[in-house]
Amino acid sequence: MSSSTSKPLINLLRGWPSTSLLPASLVKRAADTALTTPSIAHPGLLYGPDSGHPNLRKSIAAWLTDFYHPQEPVRDDRICISGGASQSLGCLLQVFSDPIYTRAIWISSPAYMLAFRIFEDAGFHGKLRSVPEDDEGIDVEFLRREIQKTEQEHRGDRDSPSMLKPKRPWSKIYRHVIYVVPNHSNPSSVSMSLERREHLVRLAREFDCLVVCDDVYDFLQWPASTESGDSGLRQCTLPRVVDIDRVLEGGAEGPGRDGFGNVASNGSFSKICGPGLRTGWVQGTRKLAYGVSQAGTTRSGGAPSQLTSTYVSLLLEWGELQEHVYGTLQPALAARYRTMVSAIEKHLVPLGVTYAQPGKEVAGGYFVWLSLPEPLKGAEVARLGREQQNLIVAEGEMFEVPGDSKRIKFPRDVRVCFAWEAEDMLEQGIARLGQVILEAQRRGNMADGIQRETDENDRKKTTMVEGGANYW
Ligand SMILES: Cc1ncc(COP(=O)(O)O)c(C=O)c1O
Repeated sequence: MSSSTSKPLINLLRGWPSTSLLPASLVKRAADTALTTPSIAHPGLLYGPDSGHPNLRKSIAAWLTDFYHPQEPVRDDRICISGGASQSLGCLLQVFSDPIYTRAIWISSPAYMLAFRIFEDAGFHGKLRSVPEDDEGIDVEFLRREIQKTEQEHRGDRDSPSMLKPKRPWSKIYRHVIYVVPNHSNPSSVSMSLERREHLVRLAREFDCLVVCDDVYDFLQWPASTESGDSGLRQCTLPRVVDIDRVLEGGAEGPGRDGFGNVASNGSFSKICGPGLRTGWVQGTRKLAYGVSQAGTTRSGGAPSQLTSTYVSLLLEWGELQEHVYGTLQPALAARYRTMVSAIEKHLVPLGVTYAQPGKEVAGGYFVWLSLPEPLKGAEVARLGREQQNLIVAEGEMFEVPGDSKRIKFPRDVRVCFAWEAEDMLEQGIARLGQVILEAQRRGNMADGIQRETDENDRKKTTMVEGGANYW
């Protein structure tokens, strides 16, 4: 039975920012200013323009230019304010996909699990496909082969493609949608290499794909080793996929192209300020940014998050949000990451657990992805963690793409988050996970021993399903 009752709960599943990192006093100051200044308060409390609060669009564009140093500065006409990356994904699908015409949603796997329902709500139940990733990100060659197969299957519909949605001048319907988290992915923490990003853009152009990038962890990066100092990174080390699309081989708006481009970048204030703000942005070509602003729900209600946009806009204009990210969040998350990684080295690596981080120059995001030694299973370890140690971790199966008969599976993996729990609970959480794994290995060994003895002594067939060799 449970031995956990006396232990405080440690939740390493929850992918939220720690309450100690929420900038409540900054937001309060911005809210006070916004609500006591009629020229800010009145538009903030009314319906907003379809593309969102104009000052926020400008401030975001300036910050993105500063952080990514793209070849061309980012301008506000490429930005549309969203209600966060999740809502933005829903709006992008409303405007740019069609459940009949769009062949499939290709999802880099393991994948952010809460995106699945957004795709299914948009009519893509049964059309989600998993694509493996390696340590350079999504496997573009695998994706190419699978898209080619799908195109072959639909060869006949090329001349008479059916579509549920009417044609609109502000939109286009893509044949495929690809979903990736290029930097410090949730859950694997993998970042895509530059070469992979370029290949992805070329593939997207060749097969009429919209690549939706959740770029929500980009501002949360730091040197992986302490030798490079403890401060974070004021500049992103790699261009975003959307920046590559803008300039590669004539660029998304170059001659012969329709100007919509093939990439949408979802940014969010959830991880860098507070998810309760429900404010983010989407960036693409001018046509794409305008198109998404024309989603029916936005046309009717005006831009999402209009009031909170005024707060965030002030924080960016004052430079306070940037300083919060560079001066508070990055160092705090870097310290948490290092605490967790050294606990993993101490408590889990000796048991045979592996993880993806060692050797990388830049770490970031919220998560560490662990692979358990054979024959342990993530789901079983997660269950025992809850029962024996009052510990919650996310088993790999949660991140498998649903409804894909050939789906890529993660039975031996577990995701742990270093952003939510108090820092001093991280080492304890990993130590408890070590206890669970050790206990499971002992029980597995004992069961193996019994199995061998039985086999040798009387060659009787013994099936030890529960608590035996097959237990994991
Ligand atoms: C990859 C990814 N996309 C989107 C989200 C949700 O973002 P938002 O709060 O902006 O909707 C998360 C949150 O965990 C995430 O990890």
